[in-house]
Amino acid sequence: MTRNSANSTNLNSSANSANSTNSTNKNHKIKPAPRPAPRPASRFASKPDTTSSTSSTSRSSSSHSSPNSSSNSVNKSSLNNHIRSAPKPNSKEFDVKIEQVDSYKLTVNNIVVEITITKSEDKPIPLYSINIANISPTTKIILEKIRQEFVSKMNLKDLEQFETAVEPENIKKEFTKEIYDLIRKYFPGTDEKTENMLANYLLEENLGLGKIDILLKDAQLEEIVVNNHKEPVQIYHRKYGWLETNILIPSESRIRHFATMIGRNVGKEITNLNPLMDAHLSSGDRVNATLNPVSSKGNTITIRKFAEDPWTITKFIKSKTISVEVAAFIWLAIQNELSILIAGGTGSGKTSMLNVVSNFFPPNQRIISIEDTRELVLPSNLHWVPMETRLPNPEGKGGIEMLDLLVNSLRMRPDRIIVGEIRRKEEAQVLLEAMHTGHSVYATIHANTADEVITRLTNPPIDLPKPMISSLSLILVQNRNRRTGNRRTLQVAELTAEGDPRIVYRYNAQKDIIEKLLESKSVIERLELYTGMNKKEIEFDLQQKTTILKWFVRHNLEDINALGLKFSQYYTGKLKLG
Ligand SMILES: Nc1ncnc2c1ncn2[C@@H]1O[C@H](COP(=O)(O)OP(=O)(O)OP(=O)(O)O)[C@@H](O)[C@H]1O
Ligand SMILES: [Mg+2]
Repeated sequence: MTRNSANSTNLNSSANSANSTNSTNKNHKIKPAPRPAPRPASRFASKPDTTSSTSSTSRSSSSHSSPNSSSNSVNKSSLNNHIRSAPKPNSKEFDVKIEQVDSYKLTVNNIVVEITITKSEDKPIPLYSINIANISPTTKIILEKIRQEFVSKMNLKDLEQFETAVEPENIKKEFTKEIYDLIRKYFPGTDEKTENMLANYLLEENLGLGKIDILLKDAQLEEIVVNNHKEPVQIYHRKYGWLETNILIPSESRIRHFATMIGRNVGKEITNLNPLMDAHLSSGDRVNATLNPVSSKGNTITIRKFAEDPWTITKFIKSKTISVEVAAFIWLAIQNELSILIAGGTGSGKTSMLNVVSNFFPPNQRIISIEDTRELVLPSNLHWVPMETRLPNPEGKGGIEMLDLLVNSLRMRPDRIIVGEIRRKEEAQVLLEAMHTGHSVYATIHANTADEVITRLTNPPIDLPKPMISSLSLILVQNRNRRTGNRRTLQVAELTAEGDPRIVYRYNAQKDIIEKLLESKSVIERLELYTGMNKKEIEFDLQQKTTILKWFVRHNLEDINALGLKFSQYYTGKLKLG
């Protein structure tokens, strides 16, 4: 921390704003045709410097900001997220060894963002630094000035009034027009592309999620976590695990504002009376928010990023998450309408696996999915009705629970029912009843092994009678290796008539392969019973499925919709492997 704060430069030009509140300085009024600072303005006003600002140049931005410390200066308070400059590898200044682990670039709305990941001797976790590369520090100072003029012009005490607006879209249109007018005033003669880029930057900073929006665009990130305004935003990187970022959200009310904005877009509310919220972004990313004092260190936001391209069976086989043999076995079970539970620990990949197994659904069946927050993406050619639960309003009205949807779905003539996660007794009961009455059901449950699934289902609070469980055919357990971080299918277990799990496939962590432990008995018996196929025919079918899956892998058929078409060709007897 010492190193960073000593070295810290605020690219938003409000140098001392890390602890600032988000109120706007009312005294601050920009006079007609202002120029932020005599020299930079004349040099940069008509032509925004959109070339570069590396960490070393951004360091110099504090000196740029000094001429602005007059009454006409850039307001110290800022609504924006704050970013600190990236540390330099092997910085001698502080005698701490800093090693650059990775660096890459992202382009977000024409804004070029440099990402650097550095490891510092004195820090337990690496630092993920974002640096806007194609907007120079001076341009940023002018943009901050534009932002302030905009705030005073729109007569807003605080942009957070946007939060309570009845028609935010209309206000956004008005804001957008005003921002373009101001950009033209400060940067006359700018080409359209740069103008759009600067406008997007300002809109994102003011009306969007600011720097969090940049994190959302990094496909390498799985999770984005805001713990409070005093600690930097943390992220979970696919390759490097947990990292600290150089982003600070300036105030608790700003975090709350983000949560409110996210919730409002999907009809969910977060209030003092209702301080917990599950919601999702329009991109599908899942969001949980909590308010202080329930979260005692501050308001929190946790974003589980949606895999940009949903996981598919081809990707799972390629990444060694599942073997071709196991995938063919699951496909055969799903084709013949056997029910499956997918288990695993937190973040082990249960929902991703649920998404993957739904690749195998035939196109002529009605599929109903029920989730708290929509995460699943099925091929577009399937007959799919996604449904979502809803929290009650502050008066306790209008809530729709998973159980309501489950009961309702049974009246919608479903062939397949997918349930995001089973947590409560009533849900498990209805789910197993649905299986008993001939529906094929797919759901996830939090448990680390097949045995644990049965223990959870047959003990309080779920407490189902064991014989009831035998209508379930398979349990598939996903696991994330705590050492390597790899996600793999740990166990595939079939259920005996008594409701006991019998492990057919098991992951061997030493060899990193999934091994067959036993020949399947009950699944084969069920297939024989329901389909009339004999063992030889089942064997032949499995081989054929293995060949097809290998062909998908060889031909990189990873896209969910492309695969959907292939499966549909398979089910209608038209699949040709060229
Ligand atoms: N096989 C895999 N290989 C690599 N990454 C994966 C794999 N499966 C899932 N992931 C990633 O892991 C993260 C967690 O996945 P997912 O949401 O499916 O887990 P989960 O077990 O359902 O989590 P939760 O317990 O929070 O519901 C996601 O970012 C997802 O993209
Ligand atoms: Mg999940």
